[in-house]
Amino acid sequence: MQISSIFCLTLAAAASAIPTQVSKIIGNVKRQAPVESSIWGNSITGSPEYYDNNWANVTLPFPISFYGVNYSNLWVSINGILSPGPEQIQYPDTSSAIQNHIPVDSIAVGAGQERPDLPWVPEKALFALWQDLFVENAPIALHAVWTTTSGSAPSRIITFSWKVSSEGVVGGQIVEPEFSVSFREARPYIARIEYTDVADKGINAVIGIQSSFSTGVEWSYKTEALFNGDILAVNLDTQTFNIS
Ligand SMILES: *[C@@H]1O[C@H](CO)[C@@H](O)[C@H](O)[C@H]1NC(C)=O
Ligand SMILES: *[C@@H]1O[C@H](CO)[C@@H](O)[C@H](O)[C@H]1NC(C)=O
Repeated sequence: MQISSIFCLTLAAAASAIPTQVSKIIGNVKRQAPVESSIWGNSITGSPEYYDNNWANVTLPFPISFYGVNYSNLWVSINGILSPGPEQIQYPDTSSAIQNHIPVDSIAVGAGQERPDLPWVPEKALFALWQDLFVENAPIALHAVWTTTSGSAPSRIITFSWKVSSEGVVGGQIVEPEFSVSFREARPYIARIEYTDVADKGINAVIGIQSSFSTGVEWSYKTEALFNGDILAVNLDTQTFNIS
């Protein structure tokens, strides 16, 4: 509120004095550089370390809605999963590479077990491109998982991006998926997944959403369901999917 009223005053003053500068002022105010924040590695320079099976807790700039509940954080898995809830991930370095049908039975993959090395997936999860993914260290590859935040309230956007390696191989080449998941403040119940580069068309991945170990919707299970540039909009409240 305060920022926009200062902006209007500045605009009004500038408009009467030197109109040619008005568009410049508007441009400078509106165009804020997106803020990038690395989770693992760096998409330009690569990563000094190899990462596999990690989870990180990201505080969101605005709450997102998941099955009708607002959350101020998302856990991000290197294996293409996002999970809301402050305490959802008990073992941040636990493997979540194992793939089952969604909803994923916790027992089947070892959830709640005392051994943090057991494969495990959280109860609440958006499986954007769930498979065994990893960040290779440079100079083998220029891999990273990062967030980008842009815009100002109430129109902010946060994007989680992956540029990683997988175990998939197409035509003798290792598949290095690139994809992102964006949330807009104006519609915080929509996850917009953009598959920039999915050479194996998702045949090694599981995609879907779940709210518990027994409730969820599977969109694809290890099938060739994706093309480069596809956008999958997931309504996190109604659990509906729209590919375009
Ligand atoms: C969730 O957040 C939105 C936007 O801030 C708000 O309108 C809504 O009332 C909140 N819902 C709940 C259940 O708190
Ligand atoms: C995860 O982040 C949220 C939001 O910042 C915070 O409330 C919560 O305590 C964090 N959880 C852990 C286990 O650090």
